[in-house]
Amino acid sequence: MADEPTLSNLSTETRSFPPSAEFAAQANATEEWYARAEADREAFWAEQAERLHWNQKWEKVLDWQPPFAKWFVGGKLNVAYNCVDRHVEAGYGDQVAFHWEGEPGDTRTITYADLKREVCKTANALASLGVKAGDRVAIQLPMIPEAVFSMLACARLGAMHSVVFGGFSASALKARIEDAECKLLITSDGQFRRGKPAPMKENADQAVEGTTIEHVLVVKRTEADVPWTEGRDIWWHDLVDKQSDEHTPEAFDSEHPLFILYTSGTTGKPKGILHTSGGYLTQAAYTHHVVFDHKPGESVYWCTADIGWVTGHSYIVYGPLANRATSVMYEGTPNTPHEGRHWEIVQKYGVTIYYTAPTLIRTFMKWGSDIPAKYDLSSLRVLGSVGEPINPEAWMWYREHVGRNNCPIVDTWWQTETGAIMISPLPGVTVAKPGSAMRPLPGISAEVVNDDGKPVGKGNGGYLVLDKPWPSMLRGIWGDEQRYRETYWSRFAEQGYYFAGDGAKYDEDGAIWLLGRVDDVMNVSGHRISTTEVESALVSHPAVAEAAVVGASDPTTGQGIVAFVILRGNVARDEASGTEMIKELRDHVAKEIGPIAKPRQIMVVEELPKTRSGKIMRRLLRDVAENREIGDVTTLADSTVMDLIAKGLKEGT
Ligand code: WT7
Repeated sequence: MADEPTLSNLSTETRSFPPSAEFAAQANATEEWYARAEADREAFWAEQAERLHWNQKWEKVLDWQPPFAKWFVGGKLNVAYNCVDRHVEAGYGDQVAFHWEGEPGDTRTITYADLKREVCKTANALASLGVKAGDRVAIQLPMIPEAVFSMLACARLGAMHSVVFGGFSASALKARIEDAECKLLITSDGQFRRGKPAPMKENADQAVEGTTIEHVLVVKRTEADVPWTEGRDIWWHDLVDKQSDEHTPEAFDSEHPLFILYTSGTTGKPKGILHTSGGYLTQAAYTHHVVFDHKPGESVYWCTADIGWVTGHSYIVYGPLANRATSVMYEGTPNTPHEGRHWEIVQKYGVTIYYTAPTLIRTFMKWGSDIPAKYDLSSLRVLGSVGEPINPEAWMWYREHVGRNNCPIVDTWWQTETGAIMISPLPGVTVAKPGSAMRPLPGISAEVVNDDGKPVGKGNGGYLVLDKPWPSMLRGIWGDEQRYRETYWSRFAEQGYYFAGDGAKYDEDGAIWLLGRVDDVMNVSGHRISTTEVESALVSHPAVAEAAVVGASDPTTGQGIVAFVILRGNVARDEASGTEMIKELRDHVAKEIGPIAKPRQIMVVEELPKTRSGKIMRRLLRDVAENREIGDVTTLADSTVMDLIAKGLKEGT
């Protein structure tokens, strides 16, 4: 675990960057917030919850029956009303909510008044299809405004959305629809990717076959010809456009479910992470306010994530809208039609806050610093990073070439499960170190502990845990309480800590450095992919007898997927090691899970290293994948296996 740091230069990083006096003087948060939150955590969170409109105030801030929390007990609110209507009622109907930029260059400007009309129409449309509070609605859409309308329409009706990333395959979508027993699927005819329309509806058709889906609501985006099932399929423009743009929101309990979002775990089956309303929205709004130093009506905010991931939920939709942000939403890829596309958009809209992922920063570095240099980026004030540890070189490049040495960088650690940012510098407050997420936000408590659950102390590494409940914490795994308890609460059951699955260390000043996952979960371009899931996909191919998958460090994507496969006896040896077969297996994984899970490399081997109890020793395979000296093999059932693998690979090349 933490003896395998992913940041090699951790202990040597000594640079630090204090905030400018100017920035500090106008920052939303101050150093005093930490002490205030520490002195009375519940009072602090009650104060943050006042950012929202409550139809009925809570009676109790927190009811903690480990591992189950209820926040703002007895309170009632409508999440969509908080994100939309109240801003219009307060006189900000003309403020832009989204500057939407399509990949082909088409644009839409959506004000808060527009957003209210669209969300009401969508809510009425969904209600006409029988969607009601407590139902589940699957959404697989590209980055178009209808994705936001759909999510907010669900929230308005008290129905849970389950957004599935557009790049996920039909079988991945089907598994998610089946697990949550969704009633409706909202999708589109297609999406624009890398300058070309790509199909989407065909995927949806395959996915809904034989499931609980009653209707498929289809947004027209690419004008592609699509297969159509009369009676089941409905065009968005046929149904939504004719609806009334008025809809009275109902107030729901603070703990009313808001959404399910699937994420990879250590087994093959994705976990449906459940989030609820009051606590989630409180922390999403609070963190968006303090971490990005967001000023409503002034800031122009851009989070480059996809709404298919939690970052898109909390920092494109819920947090920013609750705070009356003006956001940029971009449909496409960063190099379409050219590698300066992001900077062109920053310049065009005067973006002040830019939030992206280390993998993209490293890609920008590869494309060259002359590209951002061609644009006017002087509007930028705060830069954010999320998804994986950011290496100090990428941090410095970001600071210099995007931020012109003038913008605080916030490296934000959190997870699908935590719902919102947990560990991050505060701009204008924190003296930031390149590559460190620094310290838990005011109101949040974290620790780095050893195997026995004891704090490791300054200068040492261990496991990251969250030792106190927080408002936006997951409320469980959909339909699987046992797995919820086992995954997060069993590792440090005695202490009652939430086990995040990440390794971390404290430096000599007590700042936290994240070191990557300690379980069988890979992080590829900031996306969580389980080794088991990719192994299952490989084994489902008729030529594969057995497979082992590891994440090997990769200069651009953080980790790359490397697979070791044993082929079935009836597959001819020359065919086996042939590039054709490797290509077929890579494509097979893309088809089973999605292109993001395609292995970077597949090695055909005769044996896999296993312990006596039959557990695959991925550590040794990682050594091979990263071209390292093979580590300790004494616990292998057959210690000659690694020689065999090394020999086989040499012959194969
Ligand atoms: C895992 C959570 C949170 C939204 C995106 C990913 C890694 C995330 C950081 C960071 C180091 C990070 C962790 C975590 N991670 N942010 N700033 N520094 N690691 O959400 O898919 O739920 O993945 O991403 O390993 O456990 P997710």
